[in-house]
Parts: sequence; structure tokens; C-alpha cells
Amino acid sequence: MKVTVTGGCGFIGSAVVRHLMNRTDHQVLNIDCMTYAASEETLAAVASDPRYRHARISINDQAAVEEALEEFQPDAIMHLAAESHVDRSIDGPDAFIQTNIVGTYCLLDVARRYWLGLEGEKKEGFRFLHISTDEVFGHLSPEDPPFTEETAYDPRSPYSASKAASDHLVRAWYHTYGFPAFVTNTTNNYGPWHFPEKLIPLMIINALEGKPLPVYGKGENLRDWLFVEDHAAALVRAVECGKPGATYAIGARQPRSNLEVVRKICSLLDELEPDSAGPRERLITFVSDRPGHDFRYEIDPSHAERSLDWRAEHDFEAGLRKTVQWYLENRSWWQNLRNQRYDGRRLGVKA
Ligand code: NAD
Ligand code: TYD
Repeated sequence: MKVTVTGGCGFIGSAVVRHLMNRTDHQVLNIDCMTYAASEETLAAVASDPRYRHARISINDQAAVEEALEEFQPDAIMHLAAESHVDRSIDGPDAFIQTNIVGTYCLLDVARRYWLGLEGEKKEGFRFLHISTDEVFGHLSPEDPPFTEETAYDPRSPYSASKAASDHLVRAWYHTYGFPAFVTNTTNNYGPWHFPEKLIPLMIINALEGKPLPVYGKGENLRDWLFVEDHAAALVRAVECGKPGATYAIGARQPRSNLEVVRKICSLLDELEPDSAGPRERLITFVSDRPGHDFRYEIDPSHAERSLDWRAEHDFEAGLRKTVQWYLENRSWWQNLRNQRYDGRRLGVKA
């Protein structure tokens, strides 16, 4: 199978590309224009493989994407390119509208024209998988049941609103044009190569550097944490056997409060690299809450588990240990990012 992955140099996209290269025989065209969130290093281990190629172009550039698709002749597109950080969407929604909404429209339009030009089995088998988030469903109170594929949309941040709009476009292309697209909505991911603006890598790195660990509000907000390699496995299952028009809600059944997550990171670091100044929990600092902070996200993944014959392999403790070990062993990657792209300062307080 020939698979085009958009956003393949990002956190989840690179896990998908590594999975495709290391565990399948598929060929990969990675369309990634390399924003601040992208790293070539994420794919260094597979980049010289003849089954892999990278087109450094934007999904918004329809002529360039059309040429790349015509040349590669994909059997499927996995669309992960996006602006992905809620706090940045509070400071500057424009890039989120341009990439997540307009970019998805541009890609859908080109992909549909490419698909219309296919014939026979190639046309029948073509799939467009749009990767989205559970944040489109809004947020849950402690007593609410988890989100499912049936949950009504209620996005509340510029990020989740832009992703919701893109999900609606994808479903409209399926219903209106018969374009063989489908959607996955997934919980919070964590693992290797996570850009250090997000909770888990930011806390690991700040703790290693003896800096404050900024917990928003009281740290009671809950997220359902999915190890990124488990997510990549689910997405590859989805592109291989998912049904046009379907939705798959993907989660790990591992909800944890933010404070619990930060405390676990502290104790893992205390075990793996003790700090002579004392236990890392001393660095936990409660700061003003994120504007419009969603209280809880959690997915009931039963339908996806059954339909895709998939289940998350890592519980949170096992995945977090692997993650912390990875950050200890890959310091030059995140030190360069901290020096050159993002120094860890608070984002998303301008509201
Ligand atoms: P990321 O920010 O780490 O990576 C995004 C990638 O997209 C980058 O490599 C960037 O260069 C690329 N990109 C951005 N704009 C582009 C454009 N116009 N053209 C081409 N490439 C472009 O994001 P991520 O965390 O890997 O998320 C990937 C997808 O999964 C996103 O669609 C996100 O909404 C979704 N998602 C993420 C999570 C999570 O926990 N990170 C959870 C659920 C869903
Ligand atoms: P984040 O990693 O930004 O993911 P999302 O907002 O998409 O869930 O944040 C995860 C949780 O951690 C969220 O409830 C906000 C909180 N958080 C902090 O408490 N401190 C921080 O410095 C960051 C970045 C996030």
C-alpha cells in the first residue's frame, strides 16, 4: 500500500511513519512543511529507506500537493498536519484557522480530484483518514459517562473549534461527494518526541532543570492518556480496515488528574536521576488557570477496540516510565528545541 501521511515530522505523525516503515511493507510520502513543531530527527532512523520520501510543502498549497499526489499515486491519505497546542490557539487563533480549517479544505479538495481520476480497484480501495481529537466534544463533569462516537460536538477552545470544523468538512465530503473519508477522535497522547510545550514533556524537562512545574488551577483536570505508539498502531489498523463514513473514538482507559501526572513524573525522575537538592515535588507551583480550561476528557474506546481489533498496550505507569527514560536519553534533541524554538515560558494567558 502507498500511504501519504500529512504532518509526518510532528509528534504523532512521526510515530505513524515509524510504525509504517518498521512494521509494515507500505510506502510512505510524508507531506510536512516543517513548522516550529516539526523535527527531521523524529524520522532520522527511516529517512534513507527507499520506501520513504518527504515533500516539504504545505497542505494549503494545492498545486504542490496535487503534483505530489499525482507522482506518488497513494492508496490512502492519513491527515495529521495541524496546529495542535491549545495554549497557542488562545494567543494566536489565526494559524489554527488557516491550517486546521482552510488547510483541511484545501487537502480534501485536491484529494477528491485525485480520487476521481482513479479507476477500478484503486478507486474502490482509496481511503482518507482524518485524525482528530476528543476535545471537539467539549468537556465532561466528574459524573458524566466518557465520550463515544455518538457524543454531540461542543468545542470550547480555538483549537478544538478549528478541529471540529475540519471534522465537519471531512464528513460533508463523504456525504455529499461519496468521498471515502472517515475520522478518528483520540484522547491526549504522550511519549517520545513530544514537543516540550505540552504538559508531560514540559514537566519532565523543567524538573530536570530544577525549574518550577506550573500546574494550572488546582491540577484537578483529568485527561485520558494514550501512549503515542499505541495510537499509531490504532491509526494504521484504521487506514487498513476502517470503513468510509465511520468514526472511531480512540482512548486508553487511563484517566489521570494533572497533579497525579506531575507527581508521577517527579517520583520517576527521583528514582532514575536523583536530585541532590531534594525530591522534585518541591518544584510543583500552582499558577493561574488556563482561560476556558476544559475539566475532563475521557473516551469509551469500546467501538474502536472491537472494529479495529486493537487495544492500547501500555498502561499509564508503563508508558510514562518509557517516556521519562526516553527524555533522559535524548537530551540534545530537547535542549536544542529549548534553546532555539521554545524556552518553556507560559503560553495562553492573554485572554
Ligand atoms: P504536532 O503539532 O506535533 O505536529 C503537527 C505537524 O504538522 C508538524 O510536523 C507540522 O510541521 C505539520 N504541519 C502543520 N501545518 C502544516 C501545513 N500547513 N502543511 C503541512 N504540514 C503542516 O501535532 P501532533 O500532536 O502530532 O498531532 C497530530 C494530529 O493529531 C493533529 O491533527 C492533532 O489535532 C491530532 N491529535 C493530537 C493529539 C495529541 O495529544 N497530541 C490528540 C488527539 C488528536
Ligand atoms: P496539554 O498538554 O496542553 O494538552 P490539552 O490541553 O490538549 O489537554 O495540557 C494537558 C493538561 O495539563 C491540561 O489540563 C492543561 C494542563 N497544563 C498544566 O497544568 N500546565 C502546563 O504547563 C501545561 C502546558 C498544561
